Amino acid sequence: MKKIKISPSILSADFSQLGNEIKRLEAGNADMIHVDVMDGHFVPNLTIGPPVIKTLRKYTKLTFDVHLMISPVHKYIKDYADAGADIITIHPEATENLGESISHIKSLKKKVGVSLNPDTKTNVIIEHLEKIDLVLIMSVFPGFGGQKFIPEVVNKIKELNKIKKEKKLDFDIEVDGGINFSNCKLVIEAGANILVSGTTIFKENDGNLKKNIEKLRTV
Ligand code: DX5
Ligand code: ZN
Repeated sequence: MKKIKISPSILSADFSQLGNEIKRLEAGNADMIHVDVMDGHFVPNLTIGPPVIKTLRKYTKLTFDVHLMISPVHKYIKDYADAGADIITIHPEATENLGESISHIKSLKKKVGVSLNPDTKTNVIIEHLEKIDLVLIMSVFPGFGGQKFIPEVVNKIKELNKIKKEKKLDFDIEVDGGINFSNCKLVIEAGANILVSGTTIFKENDGNLKKNIEKLRTV
């Protein structure tokens, strides 16, 4: 059983203090930092891009778990690799050739993730599973923090975990969206080993990051 890792989403952080917020997350024992990149086209919201990630890189050595909600995505991948992303996660719908985009990320010596929206079936990525490091299961439709967890995705986590075992693969299963203290155990038992959370980590227990991160990891 893989160690459960917590990847706090800075989408819920104070954007005027992102460097300090990242340092607070590190002090709160975050395992990595989930950076939500949105372009206002693939999703109806706009956040940050390579220049901001480049400046944040010097605030921590923690893994930058970069979630690219942008399309087209292929031609921008190198910009995020150069800015300091460690894991680059893309959506199949955002590239004309998923296999080529996966190879491109690997050629840049970065870990590659593929993200499945709630309405995207696992068969879209089956043929690529041997090549990827992480599958990001969206438990909300991407674009905003603070949305309600979609319980139907639990079956998708179980299905993916079963395929992973059958194929004897070792990719991480990360879940992202509406994760809180009442559903985190459910997704872990279904097979997730990395939890993304923004609202729960930054808002619960008066914003006690260390307490919220630990509670998600061990509840
Ligand atoms: C949504 C993002 C998620 C989101 C998670 O499009 O991909 O990472 O920020 O935030 P919460 O935990 O508030 O749902
Ligand atoms: Zn995300």
